[in-house]
Amino acid sequence: MTAGSTTAPPAPAVRLSHVSKSFGPDGDRQQVLEDIGLEVAPGEFVCLLGASGCGKSTLLSLVAGLERPTSGDIEVPGGRPALMFQEHALFPWLTAGKNVELALRLRGVAGSERRSEAERLLELVRLGGAHGSRVHELSGGMRQRVALARALAQDSRLLLMDEPFAALDAITRDVLHEELIRIWAETRLSVLFVTHNVREAVRLGGRVVLLSSRPGRVAREWRVDIPHPRRIESAEVARVSLEITEQLRGEIRRHGRH
Ligand SMILES: Nc1ncnc2c1ncn2[C@@H]1O[C@H](COP(=O)(O)OP(=O)(O)O)[C@@H](O)[C@H]1O
Ligand SMILES: [Mg+2]
Repeated sequence: MTAGSTTAPPAPAVRLSHVSKSFGPDGDRQQVLEDIGLEVAPGEFVCLLGASGCGKSTLLSLVAGLERPTSGDIEVPGGRPALMFQEHALFPWLTAGKNVELALRLRGVAGSERRSEAERLLELVRLGGAHGSRVHELSGGMRQRVALARALAQDSRLLLMDEPFAALDAITRDVLHEELIRIWAETRLSVLFVTHNVREAVRLGGRVVLLSSRPGRVAREWRVDIPHPRRIESAEVARVSLEITEQLRGEIRRHGRH
């Protein structure tokens, strides 16, 4: 580095500036997102929280590049993000390992390396040995682990998660929360995690961003300084969740219809 040079702040993992999105024909347009400003720093874990229908999935589709904003800018300096949904979207006729290998192939990983890399990723999600299992043989929690391994196979620096554990029972979800935080800490990934579950947001996030409804706007955000490992039933998680729930109720009351 030359003398006198200054270090630029690191580029964010994602930056949304004044992002709006509406659907429908002229005259009957539905404004879903309005003037969203949001940044996720490298290595940060941000939870995006809001009532159902407020536009969370729409926002993730915009960040993933699956939809285009009506106005505003979205920057993802690290390239295409990885995505994980509530439905595992695995190919049922393939084994767990082949599902992960398919993502590696799409990324351009050489055939000779795919098997060992898929095994490494399955070990990371604690499914070592499940390479040959067919998807239909796996439990819901195991399928979501495979889906996570497949998302990690994309080797993105940003992971977008859309209510990935919403369909799981509470005990399985609790275990997967722990695994996700361990993997996040190990990989230093940036995560944008969508949920309508306040406790889940506080259990996981370093920051919780609350979206309002109709249109979705950033209503408020909270920094969550509770150190990991956190427990979803801990007094600290309960205290922050209560504060956020009060605000969320206010949002829902204001917009009725829920
Ligand atoms: N492709 C689309 N065309 C028309 N309306 C859509 C489309 N995608 C989402 N919407 C509408 O946008 C609103 C927000 O949806 P969504 O982002 O799925 O909410 P959330 O994920 O918070 O539950 C809903 O009213 C939905 O009907
Ligand atoms: Mg959704």
